Order: sequence, then C-alpha cells, then structure tokens
Amino acid sequence: MESLTIRRPDDWHLHLRDGDMLRAVAPESRDMGRAIVMPNLVPPVVTHDDARAYRERIVAAGFARPLMTLYLTEGTNPDDVVSAHAAGTITAVKLYPAGATTNSASGVRSIEAVRAVLAAMEAAGVPLCLHGEVTDREIDIFDREARFLDDVLTPLRAAHPELKLTLEHVTTSEAVDWVRAHPGVGATITVQHLLANRNDMLAGGLRPHFYCLPILKRGRHQEALRAAATSGESAFFLGTDSAPHPTHAKEATCCAAGCFTAPIALACYAHVFEEEDALDRLESFASLNGPAHYGLPPNADTVTLTRGAALDLPPRIDTHGQSVTLFDPGHPLHWHIH
Ligand code: DOR
Ligand code: ZN
Repeated sequence: MESLTIRRPDDWHLHLRDGDMLRAVAPESRDMGRAIVMPNLVPPVVTHDDARAYRERIVAAGFARPLMTLYLTEGTNPDDVVSAHAAGTITAVKLYPAGATTNSASGVRSIEAVRAVLAAMEAAGVPLCLHGEVTDREIDIFDREARFLDDVLTPLRAAHPELKLTLEHVTTSEAVDWVRAHPGVGATITVQHLLANRNDMLAGGLRPHFYCLPILKRGRHQEALRAAATSGESAFFLGTDSAPHPTHAKEATCCAAGCFTAPIALACYAHVFEEEDALDRLESFASLNGPAHYGLPPNADTVTLTRGAALDLPPRIDTHGQSVTLFDPGHPLHWHIH
C-alpha cells in the first residue's frame, strides 16, 4: 500500500505544558483533530476555573480543539468536577498516584481519600483516566504496572463498576489482558511502547530519549502491545503521551521521563501498522475507537498518508532559548501526512 486516507486521528493522551513550551509544541500536534490534554502542570490543573484558563492558553498557542482534564487530588471537590463536565469544559479527570511520574506530587495517595469524587463521577458519567503504576519504593519499576492492576485497579473497578475508565499508556501484556477482560475499559498505547523495548533504551548505551513512565518493558510486552494496537479491538486507541522536556533535562545525570513524539507520531504508528501488515486497521486505532470510547463522533475530515522518501526532520525544535529533542526511533520513517 502506498497511500491511505483515513478519518483525521485524535490524540487521547498529550502533554502540551505551558508558557514558551506550550507555544513551541502546540502546533506540532497538527495532524491530530482533538487531544486529551494532561493536567500535570506546575501547579496542576485542579479546578474548573483552572481548566477554562488553560484551555484558552492552548487555543491561543495554536491547538484549536483541546479536550481538557482535571488533575485529581485528595482535596478535589466532587461538585466542581461534575459541574466542569456538565458545562463541557472537561472531558475527563486524571488520576496520578502520588509520586508515580512528572509533577505527580499532588496526586492520590489513597483511593479512600478520593472515594466521594469517584462516586460522583460514576453517577454523573465523568470518565477517569489512570496512570497505572504503584509507587512503593520496594516494588521493582518493571513490575509497577502489573501490581497496579491487582492492587488498585481491580478493586476500583469492583467498587465503581459504572465509572468509565481509560488505562493510559499500557506497557505490559498483563495490562492488555486486563483491559480485554473488562469490557468498556479503554486503553491508550504510545508510539514508543510500540516501536521500542527496554533493550533499545539500555543495551549498548543508555538512551535518555527512550526513557518514559511507565518504563519500556521487555520485548514480549512490546509484541503484546503491537498485537493489541493492530487488532482492531475497540478498547485500544491512539494516545501518544508526547511529553516534551528541555533537552538539558533529558540529557542529564537524572533524566526527566517523557518522549517528545508529537511531530512524528502518526508516521510512527503507520510504520508499526505497516510492519504488522495491518494498515487497514490504522483508522480504527487512530480515528474511530477513541471517539467511540468517549461517546464523541469521529472527525469529519480526513488525512492522507503516502509512502515516500525517508522523512527529513529537524532533531530539535526551539522553545525560546531552550530546545526540545525529537524522539528518534533509530530507523527511517516513510509515511508522509497530508
Ligand atoms: O514519561 C512520562 N512523562 N510519563 C508520564 O506519565 C508523565 C510524562 C510527563 O509529564 O513528562
Ligand atoms: Zn502522560
């Protein structure tokens, strides 16, 4: 196949940041119609007012159709969440276990402490997006997602069976199996977890631009993710988790977690689907399953992908004095987006 036209995709998990960084990266998601924008700013996007103000800054920075989220804290007011959703300001609420990842310090320590918010969301039909990792220091970083499924997600689902759940950036075969076993639960899959495994990050030298959370796992998990993404199953859909950090914060003694993939995300997904002989299912994953999960119509317009010469991309983009390094999969990409 040399050319493919699909409904315009959406990005169901994106970090746009704020200020100069926001202005630099917002236009880089130009292939995407809508995007669920993560609320882990400093300070985080916690209230209805915060979300309204952040939405305006995003639109002014050049991304026209952000879908906003609120950052769940142990002090979140259930009524504020429900009214933000009823007013159409937010699409979902994001749960970060405290300490799990970038700017998650104000996140949730105990599910009991947010029980009233979850119950109100369940009753009002407000979706919950989850960063699915336990944070206990004694649990091996490669086991933290699988432990989250058993210790947190299974009891949460049992207690709130009607709460709409999206398990973000799944990275293990255990997570894929869990999602399949729980109809109605959605899962996003990133570019880097389809293109790479921990060997790509760690063998023959440590590559900080492959470092993200949840961390890349072994090859058999990558295979399970590729099978899930390309299966056409409605539970699995596109969420880049494109997470820009300044180059100096990535190429550092203590490297920040996150891969900046937005400019090449669709080309990367197409590359994977081509390798898996599944280009005919790219549209389901990229453009149909996500809207269906969130009860929204697919985008009305289309994008055309054509296979051609290797993409010629700048390795970095400038953000007013700082730079952000673009994720490099380590091989050429051939899908051009029009
Ligand atoms: O690698 C990551 N980076 N994972 C996350 O969950 C957060 C993100 C960020 O905000 O940098
Ligand atoms: Zn994220």
